[in-house]
Amino acid sequence: KKWFAVIGDPIAHSKSPFMHNAWFQEMGIDAAYIPIHVKSEHLKEAVSALKLLGASGWNVTVPHKEAIIPFLDEIDPMAVKMGAVNTVVRTKDGKLKGYNTDGAGFVHSLEEAVGKNREKKVLLIGAGGASRGIAFALKEYGYQQVDIANRTVSKAQAIIEELGEGTSLSLDEAEKRLDQYGIVIQATSLGLSTGEKKLPFSLDRLQKETIVADIVYNPLMTPFLTEAEKRGAIIVTGLGMFVHQGAIAFHHWLGQYPDTENMMQKLMEQLK
Ligand code: ATR
Repeated sequence: KKWFAVIGDPIAHSKSPFMHNAWFQEMGIDAAYIPIHVKSEHLKEAVSALKLLGASGWNVTVPHKEAIIPFLDEIDPMAVKMGAVNTVVRTKDGKLKGYNTDGAGFVHSLEEAVGKNREKKVLLIGAGGASRGIAFALKEYGYQQVDIANRTVSKAQAIIEELGEGTSLSLDEAEKRLDQYGIVIQATSLGLSTGEKKLPFSLDRLQKETIVADIVYNPLMTPFLTEAEKRGAIIVTGLGMFVHQGAIAFHHWLGQYPDTENMMQKLMEQLK
């Protein structure tokens, strides 16, 4: 029997075990997926233990996505660019290979929800790990114009320089120029149920029909999405990003693609 895991700290809240076990069951795959609480000081031993005990692969969540890199044998180029791994695959020859499926998961989710709009101008808000992944993935999928706004502009500028095109903005500037963007992505940690409940800036200038996405899925409707919806935006919750990062990981492990739309429904019922 194959088995998989997710490691993180905290880990009890993770919906990944529910999601992957439901997919195994639906698809008739004889496998199990378990959450494992791993503290930072035990990460190295935890990786050795997972290898020793024969895990076929695992997901990596906060706070280990960057720290796990030195303990792996090989890192996929996209994960190298992002400086973070969220999926580990044990290859046929027993090596541990790290991938990052978060950014591509976001793009798959966006396109499943609202179709391909790769010509639209994108405003990405935030310049942390999550934004980095999304920025590189957008570029890889052919989104031509991606600007990044952040409270600390230098961090946005650093990503823009790596991308090789686009503009970095302060939150004030982004607020003033909001009407220029066809897609707006909220990728700061604001909107998390544990975080401060406020918007990065006012949405006064948001145009109707703008596609507005958030990376947070718990709560499903963040303050940012609630406000955007009131102003007539087409909204995309963070749940799709979660489901699709998992689906891409699943594909790396098992070579099959699970049903994402059905899973969205199942998870939405739990998060209501
Ligand atoms: P993640 O890995 O989830 O992206 P992170 O790397 O800690 O998390 O990044 C958090 C992001 O949220 C950053 O863009 C941060 O802005 P700074 O780079 O200026 O710190 C943004 N953020 C967090 N709290 C914020 C707040 N109160 N107002 C505006 N932006 C905030």
